[in-house]
Amino acid sequence: MTITSHETSAPAVKLPPGPPVPRALQGVVALANRRVALERLRRRYGSAFSVNVPIFGRLVVLSDPGEIRELFMAGTDVADTIDSSLGRVMGPNSLFALTGDRYRAHRKLLTPPFHGRQLTAYEAIVEQEALNEFASWPHDRTFATMPSMTRITLNVMLRAVVGADGKELERLREMLPPAIRLGSNLVLIPMPQWDWGRWSPWGRFRRYRREYDAIVDVLIDKAHADPDLDKRDDVLALMIQSRYDDGSPMTRAEIADELITFLAAGHETTATTLAWIVERIQRHPALLDRLVADLDAGSDELLNATILEVMRTRPAIDSTFREVKSPTMRIGPWTLPKDQTIIASIGLMNSDEAVFTDAGRFDPDRFLTQPPDPVAFIPYGGGIRRCIGAAFANMEMRIVIRTLLRNYVISPSTARDERWQSNRVSITPSRGARVRVQPRR
Ligand code: HEM
Repeated sequence: MTITSHETSAPAVKLPPGPPVPRALQGVVALANRRVALERLRRRYGSAFSVNVPIFGRLVVLSDPGEIRELFMAGTDVADTIDSSLGRVMGPNSLFALTGDRYRAHRKLLTPPFHGRQLTAYEAIVEQEALNEFASWPHDRTFATMPSMTRITLNVMLRAVVGADGKELERLREMLPPAIRLGSNLVLIPMPQWDWGRWSPWGRFRRYRREYDAIVDVLIDKAHADPDLDKRDDVLALMIQSRYDDGSPMTRAEIADELITFLAAGHETTATTLAWIVERIQRHPALLDRLVADLDAGSDELLNATILEVMRTRPAIDSTFREVKSPTMRIGPWTLPKDQTIIASIGLMNSDEAVFTDAGRFDPDRFLTQPPDPVAFIPYGGGIRRCIGAAFANMEMRIVIRTLLRNYVISPSTARDERWQSNRVSITPSRGARVRVQPRR
């Protein structure tokens, strides 16, 4: 008889090995430097190991491409998104919170706006926002680019995805950064269902959320009244016109929850990667020269390879999570119990010599001659929950960096590499990706 991971005759649990030290100590070590701690554990225990940390409990970490593929390819009845406070922050209709048939229905409806030809409609917005922001850059000193990249990606999302303009655009631009920061803190720290009133973190978050919902309501009303709705390209307009298989439209609450999901998942991750691109290329002057020459010759090939290599060596998101939903789940030689949280470690895989030759070296040419293996290179996760905004992010990063290199000269830098710093949503350059630029003549 073949035993599959779907079977309910639960085989005995067999977890990957892990350190025997107490949970609190493992937590302190992980907090001090998560990346170094994970690398050490992999060296000691191999590509799969178990760790025990405060709040989250026991986590199983995977970094073997084959085992991570098994995880991603398992049905959502076997492994799916983790239970977290995401539903309370993004709303119960968010892709992050939905499971089962409703999840699949949303995903099906929301996929077309982020694909293929649709994306070219957003390129002009990206270029315009990039040029606007670069125009404010100083030319006589080094400065941190991360805040600029964050403004560019937020503005792009607000215009291309939320379809906002005028008063609504201004207010969302102002309120979303602190609201999303607060929301990401609330997601990470499991909180009781009640809160301590108006000035408590949840109380403050609910006020932001009410204001956000009211603004989205106005945008939906405006869209319904727009005689040119069917000519619009923004994701909000496409959502309003889309229909589920049974012919019903998305509700207002569904639209609001999914828009905040895209904003929260999409702007800082992309901004962080853009900042890392700037941090990396100024430290590789020969590459910088080749990039400019390639773009001047009308080719994006080296730029695309550079973006991939930055995502490999400086991943903004270094892990993604799943939870076992079936009585047990088999992955490789392991049998994991129901409710076990699993980390697919994107970061560990990227730095594995067995996966990437000379893994520690920053070398965009590795992707110029050979496209990445989709099993071994997973900056956007995988399986049915793979990042819905991957193609959007790639387009946005390509246009922003192309616009930068076409219009400005980046001074080569001999400064020390910026360190990795976790800001809860993503892993950012510790000094904000400092750079010095001059306009190109
Ligand atoms: C460089 C930029 C980005 C990176 C590195 C990134 C990375 C990721 C990763 C690793 C996941 C988890 C996938 C999994 O669990 O298998 C994810 C999910 C997601 N991302 Fe992105 N992302 C980026 C940009 C974006 C953008 C621009 C958007 C929206 C326009 C977006 C929207 C989402 C959403 C909604 C999910 C949840 C998908 C689901 O559960 O079905 N991301 N992203």
